[in-house]
This record gives sequence, C-alpha cells and structure tokens, in this order.
Amino acid sequence: MSVKAYQTVGKSLPHESAHLHVMGSAQYTDDIPEFASTLHAAIGMSARAHARIVSMDLSAVASAPGVVAVVTLDDVPGEKYHGPYQDDEPVFADGKVEYLGQPMFAVAATSHDLARRAVSLAKIEYEDLDPVLTVEEGAARKSYVLPPVHISKGNVPSLLEQGPNRHQGELHCGGQEQFYLEGQVAYAMLGENNEIQLYSSTQHPSEMQAMVAHILGQPAHTVKVQCRRMGGGFGGKESQSWPFAAAAALLAKRTGRPVKVRADRDDDFMITGKRHDFRVLYDVAYTDDGLIKAVAFEQQLRCGFSADLSGAVADRQVFHSDNAYYLEAFDILSLRIKTNSQSNTAFRGFGGPQGILCIEYVIDDIARRLGKDPLDVRKLNFYGRTERNVTPYQMVVEDNVVHELVDQLEASSKYRERRKQVDQFNAQNRILKKGLALVPVKFGISFTATFLNQAGALLHVYTDGSALINHGGTEMGQGLNTKVAQVVAEELGIDMDRVRVSSTDTSKVPNTSATAASTGTDLNGKAAQDAARKIKAALVEFAADHYGCDAHDIVFRSNQVVCGDRITLSFADFVQKAYMARVPLWSSGFYKTPKIHYDLKTLTGRPFYYFVYAAACAEVIIDTLTGENRLVRADILYDAGRSINPAVDLGQVEGGFIQGVGWLTTEELWWDAKGKLMTHAPSTYKIPSVSDCPEALHVEFFENGNTENNIFQSKAMGEPPLPTAISVFLAIRDAIASTAAPGVTVPLDAPATAERVLWALDKVKEGSELCADMAAFDADANVAAALEPVMSMPGPGAGNV
Ligand code: MTE
Ligand code: HPA
Ligand code: MOS
Repeated sequence: MSVKAYQTVGKSLPHESAHLHVMGSAQYTDDIPEFASTLHAAIGMSARAHARIVSMDLSAVASAPGVVAVVTLDDVPGEKYHGPYQDDEPVFADGKVEYLGQPMFAVAATSHDLARRAVSLAKIEYEDLDPVLTVEEGAARKSYVLPPVHISKGNVPSLLEQGPNRHQGELHCGGQEQFYLEGQVAYAMLGENNEIQLYSSTQHPSEMQAMVAHILGQPAHTVKVQCRRMGGGFGGKESQSWPFAAAAALLAKRTGRPVKVRADRDDDFMITGKRHDFRVLYDVAYTDDGLIKAVAFEQQLRCGFSADLSGAVADRQVFHSDNAYYLEAFDILSLRIKTNSQSNTAFRGFGGPQGILCIEYVIDDIARRLGKDPLDVRKLNFYGRTERNVTPYQMVVEDNVVHELVDQLEASSKYRERRKQVDQFNAQNRILKKGLALVPVKFGISFTATFLNQAGALLHVYTDGSALINHGGTEMGQGLNTKVAQVVAEELGIDMDRVRVSSTDTSKVPNTSATAASTGTDLNGKAAQDAARKIKAALVEFAADHYGCDAHDIVFRSNQVVCGDRITLSFADFVQKAYMARVPLWSSGFYKTPKIHYDLKTLTGRPFYYFVYAAACAEVIIDTLTGENRLVRADILYDAGRSINPAVDLGQVEGGFIQGVGWLTTEELWWDAKGKLMTHAPSTYKIPSVSDCPEALHVEFFENGNTENNIFQSKAMGEPPLPTAISVFLAIRDAIASTAAPGVTVPLDAPATAERVLWALDKVKEGSELCADMAAFDADANVAAALEPVMSMPGPGAGNV
C-alpha cells in the first residue's frame, strides 16, 4: 500500500478560533450571557500564614448592602475536604488557617463590587501559630506534605570520594505564577431535581464535576461541567480551578440563583499555588574530561500547605534530573516540603524544568572548574544510543536523537564561531559582557500516573455531512481543538470547515483526565481518530452492501466518497444515503497509551511513552554596573516528530521558551517575613513583555518522525519548549563567569534578576566560591535522617489543631 499524502494533517492551518480571538467574539466563561437573577461572589481570605481562628464574626458581612448569602465550612452539605490527590484541603478554613490568602468564607451579592466590599467587613480574631516559611526551615523541621522519595544506584559515597574531581554546591530557584490572561472564573446554576450546571475555566472538567458532587453530597450524574475554552491555564487550572468552582456551586445551591465567581487578579495570586520553587544541594564526582562518575541531589521542593499535585510534580523533577545525560551512579532525595504558603501546583513542565535545571547547573560548574567549554562536557555525558542508555528510573532510552539534534543546532547557530566572538567582545569591553550557552532538553511524555493516560471522544456526523467532535480535552490556547479537528477531517476526508469541535462537556465524554502533561493531542487525537474510524467502518460496510464495492477500494477524500466506477458521491450525499439505510452516523472513541507502566514506590518502570528532544542556543548581554540583561539572540531546534500543524506548534515553542525566560530572569515571587506574598500583581510581578523577546529568535523543527505510534507520528508540543530557556539563564551565568578568574564557579540563583546578577558579580570579584569544597552536604546522612519515621505528617483531612 502506498503512503498517502495527508490532506489536512501537517498543514499550517490557522487556530480554529483565531478569527474569534481577534474579533473579540470568542466566548470565555465570563462572556456567557448571564441570567437576570445572577449573583456575584467574592472569597474572604486569611490574613495570617498560620493561626488558630479564635472567632469569626461575619454579621457585618451578611448585612452589607446587596449581600444575599454568606457561606463558611459549616454550610458545606457534603464532604468538607477536597484535594486532587488526597482530600487534605478544607473548602473553607477549618478552625485554623494554614496560609495567608486561604479561603475562609464566601459571599454572594447582587454585584461583584458589593460582594468584594462586603468581604472586607469580616471581623476575625486569630491566635498566631508558628509558621514554616522557607524550604530550609521545612527541611530542618521535617515538615512534609508527603513522605520523602529516594532513589539511588551504585556506591555513591565511595564514588564521590574517589573523584578524581569532586565538588558540592547549592542552588535556589524561584517559583512562577501561571498568569493566565483569563483569571479563575466559574459560573454555576441549578436545574430541576438538584441538577447543577457549572461553567468553569478549567483544564479538568471531570475533576470539577467530581469535586462539586462530593462537596454537595450528590451523585456525579447531577453535575454537568462545561468549558468552551480558557484564556490560558498553564497548569494553574489543572486542579486549582476548584476553590472557585466550589464557591460558585455551593452558593448557587444555597441561594437557588445562578452564581458567578470571578477572582480579581490579586486574589487569584493570593489564593492559588504556583510553580514549585526549590533548593537543591548537590555533590558530584567527575573525571578530568568532565564525565560524571557519581552525583547526589537533595531536592527540597516547596509544596505549600497541602499535597495538591506536589507528589507527581516532585516525581517529575526526579525523572528529569538526568536530562539528556547518562548517570552511572546517583543518589536522589526528593523532599516534598510543607510550608505555610499557597499550595504549589502544576505549571508548564510540571517539575521537569526544575529537574533539568539541577543537572544543567552542575554540568556548567564542572566545565568552569575544568576550564572547558560547557557544550563539550554536555556532549561527553549524553546518553549513548545502544549503551549507557538506561535512565535512573530504569527506562531504556530507545529514541535518542540528542546527538544529531545538538550537532545540527551547533552548526546552524554557529556556536563555535560565536563563542570566539563573545570572548573577543568580553576582552574588549569592561562594562558590558556577553554570554553564550547551548543546552539540550529531553522531556518525558505521558502522565507519570499511568491510569491518567486515557481519553474518550464522541463524534457525530449529521446528514448534511458536517461533523461535530467532542473530546475530553480542553482548549487553553494551545490549539488542541484545531489539531483534533484536523485529525477528524483527515480521517473522514472532508474539509476543516465541515468539522466543528464542541465545548468540553462532562455529560458527553465522562471520566476524563486533565488536559495536561502535554498529552492533549496524543490522547484526544487518538480517541477522535478511533471514533472517526468506527463511523467510517460502518459507512464502508454500507457501501459494500449497497453498492457492491470492495471495502478496500473505498476512498474518503476531498469531500467525496469514491469507489472505482461504482460510486462517486459527495460526502454529504453519501452519508444522507447511509442515514436512509439506517446506518449509525455517530460513535464514541477511546484510547489508552500503550507500553507504559511504573511503580510508584520504587519510581521505576517506563513512565513515558516517548521523549521529546530539543536544544536552544542563547546569547545574552549583561551590564555589570546595573546587573540588567538582554537576550540578544536565541536559536531553538525542536523535535516535533511529524508536526500536525507547524504554525500552531511554532507558537508553542516560541511561547514556551519566552515563558521559561520569564521564570529564570524576571518573575520573582517574594513573601515578607510574615508569609505575605508581596508580589501579587503585574505592578510588582514581571512577566516577559514583547520588548523582552530577542530581536533574533530562530525556531526550527528537527526532521524526525515519532518512533512510537503516536497520532500521525507527531510529538507533544506543550511543555518541552519551556526548559529550553535554561540556555538563557546559563548564558547569563556565562557572561558573569567572564569576569571571574579561571576555575571559579559563579553562584547564581534563579531568577537572575538584576540584583542577583550584581550579587554574583560581587562574589566572583571577591574570588570566593560559594561552591565550597566538601564538608557541608553529606547526602548519605541526609537520606538516613530524612527517611526516619516522621511523627508530624498531616493525614488526609487533618484539620483542627
Ligand atoms: N499554550 C497556551 N497558549 N496556553 C496554555 O495554557 N498550557 C501549557 C501548554 N501550552 C498552555 C499552552 C501546558 S502547561 C500544557 S500541559 C499543554 O499546553 C496542554 O495542552 P496539550 O496537552 O494539548 O499540549
Ligand atoms: N504531568 C502533568 N500533570 C499531571 C501529571 C503529570 O505527569 N500527573 C498528574 N497531573
Ligand atoms: Mo501542564 S503543567 O501539565 O497543565
């Protein structure tokens, strides 16, 4: 059989909603026409990081103008606790507060403004408790949301001793606010007989459904959740759309009126979790060439006050601690630290970028100490193709293209030539210094929890030949609906304008996973394909029966159905005839990712179906007087497999990269000594703007199919672009290193704000190396201490002090 060229798949078609986006007519949750009786809610938040609630007087709130209802935990009719992993978060504070910003009550009023004004009238008396505010404190006090995880191979203590080179160090890396343009919002209303209809800006409608059912004490079939689209989610709406959805549903049930909760940006910052910030301690031994012999990491991840998704995030950090490198002997301790702050959650990359940063920072150190180009040390440590190819979690890397991909980028970016130019520039300039770095990325695709890797679809073909596809994924701007529509159009041989994707709806496809882990197209595309193939099979059977066609000769293409000289009909006419012959024109579809499995206890198995590879080369310039930096040029090479939509995919790579640049350079979350997040609005929290994009940004796709049978041989696009921005951070470190004596490692924490760059410049001027030799970090002893039984671990639902 010849390989047919695709008609729709592989084309750079516009995002299916692009025209609506630019016209301002794309409907987001807050744009849904409101019922006249709609109430608006606001959430009352804790003013303390950790305290017992002595008294909560809400009488002034309840009697404020426009207020119709006030609810607290006592008003939750069903389960009072919820969480995506374990039910350890009260819907509203339960006798105590565990972070500054925690929801304590909610108010529904006749307007948004009146609800917000009423909230401020609460009189709450607290008795302060001792808070844990930093990861250092949390690690010392063994304050964990989940037990530590430890994996190791080889006699690491002895290998570290043997060196022949060895050093230790420490890195702090800040968190990141998702900063979706559309804030958290939910709109709930009652139907007859206890039905709840909920519109939620969420990556996870099924979880919102289950949660509402759970807290209202109703079966799931009474709750219907819909999401047309989000104005961005970036992980921040994977689980944490729930407090808003819960408040809307609860107040709708209480008042019998439709209720909308639309969080103000500052409230959104104060209530919801962010990317996990962390501290890592490391100890590494390596040869004179820079080949790693053994490495120990202690990753201290700030989880905030509850577990949320932190277990899976921390696991993914561990899973990406190798990046593209073979680690022969390793010891990785992952601490999931409980702090009195927002519960950190999913953010594009989901711990992966944090894991990759650890090893890249260490490799950068090694190169500095040995006086080598970091790219050479990277290459020396790459996974082999047929040997040195087993990951720390015992998965064989079968699809390794890092060698070819990095070689190609090295050539196309003219890395070696520009390295010389940068050196020259730095020799000639005293104030301005340039830096260059080329960093690879290997990113594992699949939810690490195997059961989540399933999806469903429901496809209707109407008698006019138009098709409506519903699938379990959600659209957040990433182009999932465009790609799924392309898949359906391709399978049915019809044009894109004949295919429409409906809102995500829990009453159409049930029990869906979050649209996350970059698997949206992989899972839902395959499920939609399955549905389309089932309909096609019924149609083929009809053609065989009715027209005497040989099933193999029937072609669905260019809006036509053709079978030799027996039929040439438009698709519409053909399905009309099939309908008259009572052929079902709709079908469900299902997909589960093959091959994957993994043991949660030992963190071993094959958690990922395949890997995405990428690399970026970044050039920066820093001002050594002010500490400011500018990204001058970036070249990115991305392994998209056989891209379903190159234009949409290009947007993902550019957007992910720039978002990563924000994480590592300008976005700084800062809590004061009392645990109050002070950077809670764009006035103080700086996401990249258009002027932060480099003048030269070259993105190319690496020509490579997917070795696994992924949808149309494509690869995931959502998250792996983000960690390519580590190149920018290390280019800044490179620029600082140009001011240091040979062999000195630059102590640079992330984000590399102007202050941190200045501080690092001062440190290297002093010649002091923060990475002190030995002594400080004893991985072995720390593991033993961390794994001792912990008495104070909070259990699910552990509420009252
Ligand atoms: N792109 C846009 N425009 N908006 C988003 O919110 N989220 C990212 C990524 N790209 C996001 C995005 C995250 S965190 C993930 S996991 C994936 O998209 C999810 O979509 P996918 O699985 O369909 O790629
Ligand atoms: N990635 C992203 N989101 C998730 C995952 C994951 O591995 N597991 C649960 N939610
Ligand atoms: Mo993305 S962090 O997996 O929602």
